[in-house]
Amino acid sequence: MGTYLVTGSNRGIGLEYCRQLKKRGDYVIATCRSSCSELDDLGVKVESGVDISSIKSIQKLSNKLKETEINVLIQNAGIAEFNSLSNLDLDSIIRQFEVNALGPLSFVNTFLGNLVKNSKIALMTSRMGSIDDNTSGSSYGYRMSKAALCMAGKSLSIDLNSKGIAVAILHPGLVSTRMTGYTSLGITPEESVKGLLERIDSLTLENSGTFWHSNGDVLPW
Ligand SMILES: NC(=O)c1ccc[n+]([C@@H]2O[C@H](COP(=O)([O-])OP(=O)(O)OC[C@H]3O[C@@H](n4cnc5c(N)ncnc54)[C@H](OP(=O)(O)O)[C@@H]3O)[C@@H](O)[C@H]2O)c1
Repeated sequence: MGTYLVTGSNRGIGLEYCRQLKKRGDYVIATCRSSCSELDDLGVKVESGVDISSIKSIQKLSNKLKETEINVLIQNAGIAEFNSLSNLDLDSIIRQFEVNALGPLSFVNTFLGNLVKNSKIALMTSRMGSIDDNTSGSSYGYRMSKAALCMAGKSLSIDLNSKGIAVAILHPGLVSTRMTGYTSLGITPEESVKGLLERIDSLTLENSGTFWHSNGDVLPW
């Protein structure tokens, strides 16, 4: 049993993390911009008004949780906007960098004081952020911001090793959520989170900094 903080917890993969963690008896702090009845009904501690792209909002939460020890920080919040060469909307690309890369790094950095020896950090990135795996191009903002998050995760794994904190860099699989238009080609959030929790449970200082698929495959950078 431990204390898990999950960002972006009001739907999709984040909500499912909260559901499975609560079910197995962990204490869950679920952060979101705005809650919903499904999250409220889980009986977890909900912290709403948390925007991952706002330093002010992250700081406010940090002040509130000053005395709280966190065993596992799951940075799950993210956005995907489509940018092709013919639609290179730089504002959209910047927004994705803020939410998918800069926000998560600053969130983790702000909460380092809440993490103790043997704590873990799980960053929800994407295979779309893999350079080696990119065979279909496009999606500039999403791919670039998730690649940046992968790099942040790798550096964090090195910098935090001496503090006894391990970092997992995770791809959930193609999952049927609002982000993917509830694609019928995807796995369910239940199946994805089952695998993701297996990865987080088996995360150690020795395998810290690895980029995993929820199914356990190690992904190329
Ligand atoms: N689904 C997939 O196939 C897939 C594949 C690879 C990676 N991922 C990654 O997995 C994570 C979860 O994705 P999902 O499929 O569950 O997507 P989703 O259903 O769209 O959920 C995204 C979550 O992020 C939150 N969020 C977005 N912007 C935020 C912000 N500025 N501050 C705080 N929260 C914010 C959303 O909350 P609001 O309601 O406030 O917007 C929502 O809770 C994301 O990081 C995504 O990139 C998903």
